[in-house]
Amino acid sequence: MLLSNIYKNVIFHAMFPKEVYIERRSRLRSKIRSGIALFVGNFEMPMNYRSNTYRFRQDSSFLYFFGLNQPELVGVMDFDAGTDSIYGNDVDIEDIIWMGPQPSLKEQAAGVGVVTTCPLKDLQGKVNAAIKAGRKIHFLPPYRHQNMMVLNDLLGVNYGVLSKYVSKELVKAVVSLRSIKDSYEIAEIDNACNVGYQMHVAAMRMCKPGVYEREIAGFIEGIALQGGGGVSFPVILSQHGETLHNHYHGNMLEAGKLMITDAGAEIASGYASDFTRVTPVGGKFTQKQKDIYNIVLAANNNTTMLAKPGVKYQDVHLAAARTITEGLMSLGLMHGNVDDAVKNGAHALFFPHGLGHMMGLDVHDMEDLGEDFVGYDEETSRIDQFGTAYLRLGRRLEPGFVITNEPGIYFIPALVQKWKEEKINSSFINFSKVEEYLDFGGIRLEDDLLITDKGCRLLGKKRIPITVEQVEEAANS
Ligand code: GLY
Ligand code: MN
Ligand code: MN
Repeated sequence: MLLSNIYKNVIFHAMFPKEVYIERRSRLRSKIRSGIALFVGNFEMPMNYRSNTYRFRQDSSFLYFFGLNQPELVGVMDFDAGTDSIYGNDVDIEDIIWMGPQPSLKEQAAGVGVVTTCPLKDLQGKVNAAIKAGRKIHFLPPYRHQNMMVLNDLLGVNYGVLSKYVSKELVKAVVSLRSIKDSYEIAEIDNACNVGYQMHVAAMRMCKPGVYEREIAGFIEGIALQGGGGVSFPVILSQHGETLHNHYHGNMLEAGKLMITDAGAEIASGYASDFTRVTPVGGKFTQKQKDIYNIVLAANNNTTMLAKPGVKYQDVHLAAARTITEGLMSLGLMHGNVDDAVKNGAHALFFPHGLGHMMGLDVHDMEDLGEDFVGYDEETSRIDQFGTAYLRLGRRLEPGFVITNEPGIYFIPALVQKWKEEKINSSFINFSKVEEYLDFGGIRLEDDLLITDKGCRLLGKKRIPITVEQVEEAANS
């Protein structure tokens, strides 16, 4: 019993009609014929003492199949018997005093189409009986230590070696279902994107010399909270955008710098958005900044043209790498044959990350289930080359996929120095010209896309300002 947990002081209900959850579980059942599956939901996470917890975040696969946004629950699917149950404890009078009245577990379970509920203490007996009968126990890779301990106790498998017992069959089945977003999910993601829009336009407006990065980062995090959830990942906001995931917000913005903002919202249902924009501090790009910016914008727009069912995202990534290489050659930063440069990975000096990833209930959707299961398959394997190796999604796109499109160009002084000293791809790179850009920073432009039957569409009601003119206008509004 957690006495003073304010986050429990809400009425919990499933986000979608119960039929949605019943259908999801029945589709999972059609993919896995025997054994039982344990979906261990998340627990409260103490920050600095037990009853002072972080914002509660339910496990995404638990949310997907069992819909309840509440700690200390385990969903059990028995594939042989065809039954589903939720194990958890009802609140007692002391909980009610501190947290307010709560619906019973039975009432909540009914909201997601589950009839059987049991106290948590009965779960061990259920698992023991299954083990004794030699039945397969399916579970997904745990990523929180408390969930590892729970599985450790239930299964009698030391938590250090649990990963060996993870059910690949269940992982693959869950990935195949969660990869294709239904209309309920798409509506939620559109909503999360609309909150993302507000966050980014606010950041553009605040991007003035003398303002501290933390003032803007804090303000836009507040917008995410106002959207009903919070941020979908810690805000990346910096005038040092050459550091890809820069969470340090202590700099005062200086005129002439570029501020990168990579931020998104997670709304109450758990669905995410993830956008990146770049704003010139003071509201006006220099010609040098515009030239690089427009190359990244061309790579982003070209991705939106190319992303459609049947196309490998790995090929779209390489097309973005070609657009970036061509652009940098036109500015004299690179030279040689574009295809050869990309084949050799020369573009990765400037674009050292992947073009995008799946997005949904997680901002990097299902990354806990294993990147290779989510982004690759028998047909498409990861390219083992610096830069492209970081591509999280390479496989063929399908209608219903929600993905990010996030090309970038960065000038990372330490990387430039390393490549120059080690003569890496020196036949394609004009190092003396590159050295004129060492204080440039970085540019990334990220949109969220839904793959449709024929192509793709941008998620969210309106595209966040992205052309040079639109960004300048928003920054000066
Ligand atoms: N927000 C991190 C990313 O864009 O993947
Ligand atoms: Mn992002
Ligand atoms: Mn992203």
